[in-house]
Amino acid sequence: MKSKIVVFAGIVVIALMTACGGSGKKEAKGKFAPPTKAKPMTYEEAVADWKNQKGLGPIKSITLGEFDPELAKKGEEIYKLKCTACHNPDNDKIGPAPHGILERRTPEWIMNMILNPEEMAKNDPIARGLLMKYNTVMANQGLTEEDARAVLEYFRTLEE
Ligand code: HEC
Repeated sequence: MKSKIVVFAGIVVIALMTACGGSGKKEAKGKFAPPTKAKPMTYEEAVADWKNQKGLGPIKSITLGEFDPELAKKGEEIYKLKCTACHNPDNDKIGPAPHGILERRTPEWIMNMILNPEEMAKNDPIARGLLMKYNTVMANQGLTEEDARAVLEYFRTLEE
């Protein structure tokens, strides 16, 4: 009688060990869990999601306050001096026209593009797509954050 119980217990143990094969599967599942970093976006996906695209660089968050015409004037001067070699306000030149830019890019993205164009061209999905299209890396003009903010204010006058 006792030996029968031992044999039965043995079968139960074997059954449990076989079931443990399942725990191996669980481990495999863990390996295929979604990666913690978001999947890189394509240019088209990022453009469709532009309102959430802040770009890469020092600018994390900007609130555009009331329009400041003096700041915009200063921005226009900086722009004329440092940007018109490659940009026209209204039509594409070496780079895209900034006309209506605030209706397709966030203020943070624009300032990061001005301050950090090399890294943007490498790792930002929108800037990478633009580089493919325009075939020239936007030059870093060495603007300070203040100057870049002034240019952004000038861009507010170019809205559609
Ligand atoms: C050497 C030429 C060159 C100069 C100088 C230059 N840019 Fe650019 N810019 C480009 C190119 C080319 C692109 C398209 C992105 C790329 O290819 O890297 C671009 C893209 C941009 C964009 C994104 C436009 C969009 O539609 O998304 C902004 C904003 C911009 N430039 C602003 C400026 C400002 C402001 C200056 C001056 C401080 C400036 N750029 C100077 C060539 C230039």
